[in-house]
Amino acid sequence: SYRIAVFASGTGSNFQALLDAQRKGSLQAEIVLLVSDKPNAPVVERARNAGIEVFLFQPKDYNQREDYEREILSQLEARGVDLIVLAGYMRLLTSVLVAPYSGRMINIHPSLLPAFAGKNAIGQALEYGVKVTGVTVHFVDGGMDTGPVIAQTALDIQPGEEEAALTERIHAAEQQLYPAVVSWFAQGRIILEGRQVTVLPLR
Ligand code: GAR
Repeated sequence: SYRIAVFASGTGSNFQALLDAQRKGSLQAEIVLLVSDKPNAPVVERARNAGIEVFLFQPKDYNQREDYEREILSQLEARGVDLIVLAGYMRLLTSVLVAPYSGRMINIHPSLLPAFAGKNAIGQALEYGVKVTGVTVHFVDGGMDTGPVIAQTALDIQPGEEEAALTERIHAAEQQLYPAVVSWFAQGRIILEGRQVTVLPLR
């Protein structure tokens, strides 16, 4: 079956949603590895509890990003990983990983890209005062949150909405969208041509 590696640095609510979808049989893919740069992150605990293999590294142990990415790449190749799923992995990637996984690496971001790339996208959207925000799943191309868009969910920001409430609604939208996109991928329904992405209907 389709084999995925999830990269994550934090809470892991998206990782958990992917795992739950796998258990229900709706992911149509198997999470074979969690890659994390944060040994104490809750996501690592979630993976261990689920019996999923974890590859941990500490960036400070390396001179440059390329060095740890080469190690990650060999871990991915050893497990025959078909798709990299970034889920709150808060590091930029180099061509060491981006090139071999071109068209096979996706990210989720808590805004309607290209608005509010980078860190704290939810806070940025509230600060700017936009009335609509949302969630984007996109291919990864080496820039920060810049690759071709696969799918988006829009959410209206409610008058006076606090950051905590909006964050909760964004996370709920992410947990719906991300497992769905992974399943489309596993079904071969996502076609990438230049920057244009087409999602083929179920047949
Ligand atoms: C998610 O909201 C994800 O969209 C965001 O980090 C959070 C991770 O939550 N990613 C980015 O901001 C990437 N630029 P999680 O650890 O609970 O899945």
